Amino acid sequence: MGFREYRIGSIMFGVALATSMVVTIYMPGLDISNTTATATALEKQLTYGKVAGFDYGDPFLHGDDKPIKVILKKDPKTGATIDETVAYVFKPGTSLPSGLVHEHINGAAIQALSVSLGKTDQVSVEAGGVYLVEKSVKDGVETPYIELASVTRGWTIDATLKAADQEILAGSGKVMFIREGCWWCHTLLPEQTHDWQSFGRPPMLGDFNGESPTTFGSDRKAPDLLHVGSRNSSKEWMMMHFFNPRLVQPHSIMPRYDYLWGGVDKKGNNIDLAKWDEEFDAYRDGSRVYPPEVPEYADNSEIRYLIDYVLDLK
Ligand code: HEC
Repeated sequence: MGFREYRIGSIMFGVALATSMVVTIYMPGLDISNTTATATALEKQLTYGKVAGFDYGDPFLHGDDKPIKVILKKDPKTGATIDETVAYVFKPGTSLPSGLVHEHINGAAIQALSVSLGKTDQVSVEAGGVYLVEKSVKDGVETPYIELASVTRGWTIDATLKAADQEILAGSGKVMFIREGCWWCHTLLPEQTHDWQSFGRPPMLGDFNGESPTTFGSDRKAPDLLHVGSRNSSKEWMMMHFFNPRLVQPHSIMPRYDYLWGGVDKKGNNIDLAKWDEEFDAYRDGSRVYPPEVPEYADNSEIRYLIDYVLDLK
């Protein structure tokens, strides 16, 4: 006789489970897929390239296959002085971000402008390309879009890299951030509370179109980093802090990341960690006046990627 009750119970359970699935998974999905990307989302797509994190193309998370963000102060084609411009260089073969591959990711207005003004229908992985984020007015609303400058302005990859004032390897750096587990302690998500007085503006829904993974963080044991590059833009401070956080914050619980230097300094000389530690201990117990110097990192070291990423978080 108990059978009937079991049946009612399992139907009730099924209905409750299905309803909660619809409310928590399906309905937010509708909201997100109707959200138009912000300029921030477009900049992130072009900075980080294809999915930045575990990927079959880079299973050991070396930060391969990422675009180079450059700062330009002169036109790569004509050499004329221009206002400071950020461009994104995808060398031939660099995988494209989802916003350039899937038409629906950024929203209809952005997609239309990117094709009509930005010529992004001529995108090619084999040829690579130089991209910009531009703005125009569509239906009375200021709308950002992606421009393929190699087509619209004749900016070749080589000329753009040569004209660049600075190369920022933040795409590879995001992979380091994920691989090293920085998100165990740090969030990239100031909340809509008084939180933003210390950590800056909370992100908007449209800031995340096409980004995966988002590195929001799990829970916060350390300062939020979403805008850290705005409050601290010192490469030297970052170098010291990553080499040994206790060098600049005596009671920091943050681990050392000295191994990201890859064992050598900028000149290719081996780094003697044991000697450095000995000198640091001497500094801490007062038998030495100055702390030991932190070695300058090599241009293609993993710490360079990570510092580029952190300073790029504005
Ligand atoms: C065990 C927790 C922990 C982990 C893991 C960790 N951090 Fe930190 N981090 C801290 C704490 C605590 C502070 C604040 C004290 C200090 O400056 O050291 C901090 C400070 C910082 C700051 C300065 C923040 C500011 O507001 O100026 C940066 C930048 C930073 N961490 C980046 C990183 C990156 C990148 C990683 C991964 C490679 C990382 N951290 C991993 C705990 C952590």
